[in-house]
Amino acid sequence: MKIGIIGAGNIGGNLTRRLTALGHDVSVANSRGPQTLKALAEETGATPVTVTEAARDAEVVVITVPVKAVPDLPSGLLDGAAPGAAVIDTGNYYPRERDGRIAGIEDEGLTESRWTERQIGHPVVKAFNGTFAQDILERPRPAGDPDRMALPVAGDDEAAKRRVRDLIDALGFDTVDAGGIDDSWRQQPNTPVYGLRAGVDAVTGALAEASPERTPEFRG
Ligand SMILES: NC(=O)c1ccc[n+]([C@@H]2O[C@H](COP(=O)([O-])OP(=O)(O)OC[C@H]3O[C@@H](n4cnc5c(N)ncnc54)[C@H](OP(=O)(O)O)[C@@H]3O)[C@@H](O)[C@H]2O)c1
Repeated sequence: MKIGIIGAGNIGGNLTRRLTALGHDVSVANSRGPQTLKALAEETGATPVTVTEAARDAEVVVITVPVKAVPDLPSGLLDGAAPGAAVIDTGNYYPRERDGRIAGIEDEGLTESRWTERQIGHPVVKAFNGTFAQDILERPRPAGDPDRMALPVAGDDEAAKRRVRDLIDALGFDTVDAGGIDDSWRQQPNTPVYGLRAGVDAVTGALAEASPERTPEFRG
């Protein structure tokens, strides 16, 4: 499958490693340009590209940049993606540590991923946001393994969500359907499921226990 990854840091780099190892045709971009991605390209066989090129013909696009950088992404970023492309949003809003105050999230009460959708003009599937980057490399397990971790996945486009869940299964993790993007506060930072290394039952329980309250340390 053709996959475009925008952001080549902790998460983008490790997804590039694992998805190329599964045989996918991966293009990867960062903010500084493809000439800075030679080492990752040599290591993985991924194609380094500009951000504008990353989504071209892709059936899956991963946006894995700091939330504060989302408005800087070029407009029409997803225009050249394959029809019905699934766009994965791994982002987390850290207003105090990194992102600054974002009015759409704070004042309008949008979930972080709904805000991101509005910035990029395309529906997203929220996945990997509560997964430690290193776990993508170190914790895959075969289906049925009692230690297999489960990841929550939220999205409004059921076909796109299915494609993402199938991809995560191939990467070595179970998934739990965490509802639509308006429900995705249940997996944002500071919720019980965020960073939880556990299987389907515990992840399902943690999603159910979440509170929509945004505590002061997670407010801008
Ligand atoms: N780290 C984790 O374990 C983890 C886990 C789950 C979710 N997340 C979330 O996933 C997102 C990415 O996290 P990360 O830790 O992978 O971040 P990171 O290591 O800081 O990497 C960010 C990447 O985004 C690129 N970038 C920044 N601005 C950009 C722009 N305007 N256009 C294109 N690329 C741009 C950077 O490019 P340059 O390299 O050129 O600067 C870099 O490759 C964040 O929202 C984070 O909260 C992180």
